[in-house]
Amino acid sequence: MATRDPRHSNALVYDHPLVQHKLTGLRAKATNHADFRRLLNEVAGLMAYEVCSGLPTREVSIETPVATAKGRVLVTPVTIVPILRAGLAMTDGLLSLFPEARVGHIGIYRDEATAKPVTYYSKLPDEIALGPVILVDPMLATGGSAAHAVEILQQLGVKTIQLVCLVAAPEGLAVMQRLHPDVMVHTAAIDERLNEKCYIVPGLGDAGDRIFGTH
Ligand code: PRP
Ligand code: URA
Repeated sequence: MATRDPRHSNALVYDHPLVQHKLTGLRAKATNHADFRRLLNEVAGLMAYEVCSGLPTREVSIETPVATAKGRVLVTPVTIVPILRAGLAMTDGLLSLFPEARVGHIGIYRDEATAKPVTYYSKLPDEIALGPVILVDPMLATGGSAAHAVEILQQLGVKTIQLVCLVAAPEGLAVMQRLHPDVMVHTAAIDERLNEKCYIVPGLGDAGDRIFGTH
């Protein structure tokens, strides 16, 4: 379902027909915020299966109604961390496949004049460093917000981080490769470039505004 991008070794691109069909709906400017939210959560749910494929498991012994059986369970607690606001709209989709995950929040917005990240909120589980983190934000543009969120998590001792987004710009992928080469970026698309306002082209506009109907 996901293939390693030949130009960006840190990117896994989800080219599954259902993901691409829903992404096309998300790109269309005629899509209203109710449909936008629904589609984004659905894409996240489709991606969740593959995103979780590398999680470590250990063997356990359990009793079925008939006999003793061997099974596998996840070794460590997993935390999903949406970057507010837009990451919230992918969180339920991930949780639908993985309801046991804990959820932490990091609030970051881009300064409109400089496109630099500004952090305004952080609430993360106490023992977040015990397991992997799935960081979620639909848009990877300059990469500033995601790179900053990774730094916050690493300062808390988190060792394994995967970034799940929807659309990534080559510029953002290059920044992540330079600053955080160990973070795999899961994305439905790698777009052409950023424009002069640091928006992704063709992209889908401002994800937060489209999710919450604020513009
Ligand atoms: C958007 C998006 C990312 C960031 C990406 O958030 O959700 O967090 O921009 O841009 P970057 O890669 O250049 O940092 P925004 O600043 O619009 O905040 P919002 O989610 O609250 O609307
Ligand atoms: N943030 C968005 O929501 N969209 C972009 O294209 C770039 C940053």
